[in-house]
Amino acid sequence: MKVFQPRNPDLLCAWRWTDRGLYLLDQRKLPAREVYVHCRTWQEVRRAIKDMVVRGAPAIGITAAIGLVLGAERLRARTRRAFLSGLKRIAQGLAKARPTAVNLFWALERMVKRAEAEAAAGPQELLEILRAEALSLWEEDLEACRRMGALGAGLLPEEGTVLTHCNAGALATGGYGTALGVIRAAVEAGKRLSVLADETRPYLQGARLTAWELHKVGIPVTVIPDAAAGFLMARGRVQAVIVGADRIAANGDVANKIGTYSLAVLARENGIPFYVAAPSSTFDLTCFSGEGIPIEERAAEEVHLCAGRRITPRGVSALNPAFDVTPAPYVTALITEKGIIQPPYPENIPRVLSGETPT
Ligand code: MRU
Repeated sequence: MKVFQPRNPDLLCAWRWTDRGLYLLDQRKLPAREVYVHCRTWQEVRRAIKDMVVRGAPAIGITAAIGLVLGAERLRARTRRAFLSGLKRIAQGLAKARPTAVNLFWALERMVKRAEAEAAAGPQELLEILRAEALSLWEEDLEACRRMGALGAGLLPEEGTVLTHCNAGALATGGYGTALGVIRAAVEAGKRLSVLADETRPYLQGARLTAWELHKVGIPVTVIPDAAAGFLMARGRVQAVIVGADRIAANGDVANKIGTYSLAVLARENGIPFYVAAPSSTFDLTCFSGEGIPIEERAAEEVHLCAGRRITPRGVSALNPAFDVTPAPYVTALITEKGIIQPPYPENIPRVLSGETPT
C-alpha cells in the first residue's frame, strides 16, 4: 500500500491518504472514539466535508484537493481536454461542500490552474501532477502552521492563560494548527501557559476537539461554557485570546466560528489582546470587508439537539449561523506565515502577504 504524506508530519492528523483512498478521522465522534471514514470518491469527500467529518478552514481545503485527485483517478478521459473538463466539473461539485472557508475555493482553484498550466501533459501525467500538488498543499500548510507558531509565540505572555474558541488546531489544518500552533510553539519555547477552551456550541469543537488535542500534547486545558468567557476576563483570568479564521477580508475583518465576535468585544472591553492566526490561503482580498463574506447557516437541528438528545420544545424554531464577522478594529494583530500584520490592515495586509515588511 502506498501512503501519501508530508515529509515531516505532525503527531496529530485529520486524515490518512493512501492508494486505497482517503481515511478521515471522524471528528464528529471525537473524543469518545477514534474512527475513520473511508472515502473512495469525490462525492464521498464532499459529503464528509458537508457533514463535518472533517472541518476547519485549511483542512477543508486540503481535503477538497485530495477529493479532486480521487475524482480525477476515476475519469476515463482519453484526451487532455476531456480530462480538464471532467476535472473542472468535479471541482465545481466539491466547491458546494461549504460556503465560508475560502481555503476550499483557493485549494480547488490552485489544483485546476496547476493542471491547466501543463500544456503538454496527457491524462495520466496530469493525474500524477495533481497528486503531487495536493501533497504540496498539505505540506505547505503544515509548514505555514509551524512558521505561524514560531512568529506568533513571541506575542503570548511568559506565563498565564490564553483563551481560544472552536478548534484551530492540527485537526483543522495540515497539522500543528494555527491558533493552537502558536500556543504549542510558545509552550515548546518554555512559556508557562494554560488554555481556556470555549466549548463552542452547538458542534462543541472546543470541548471535544481542542481539549482532545491539547491534552494529547500535554498542554493544560480547561473547558468553559461559552458564556463564561466575559466573566473570566473581567476577573483577570485571561491574558490573551487567540483564534483561527475561515476568511479574512481586505480590510482585516475576520470571519470565524460563531461566538468569535462576542469574544473580541469582551477582550477589548477588558483590555486583553485579541489575536487571529491564519495562513495566507485564508485571506480573500476580493472581499473588501466582512460584509462580502458568505456566512453558512447550518441546520436548526444542530441547535435543537445536544449530544444526540433534543433539548428544545417541539414546535420552537432555532437559528444556526455557523460563523460571525469580527470587525478589524477589534483585532490586535493577524499572525500569518509571512509575518505578523498590525493595523492599519488595508495597507499592511497586501504588504505582508506580498513579502514586503510593513513600514
Ligand atoms: O465549522 P468549523 O468547525 O469548520 O469551523 C472552524 C473554525 O471556525 C476555525 O476556527 C477556523 O476554520 C480556523 S481552523 C485553523
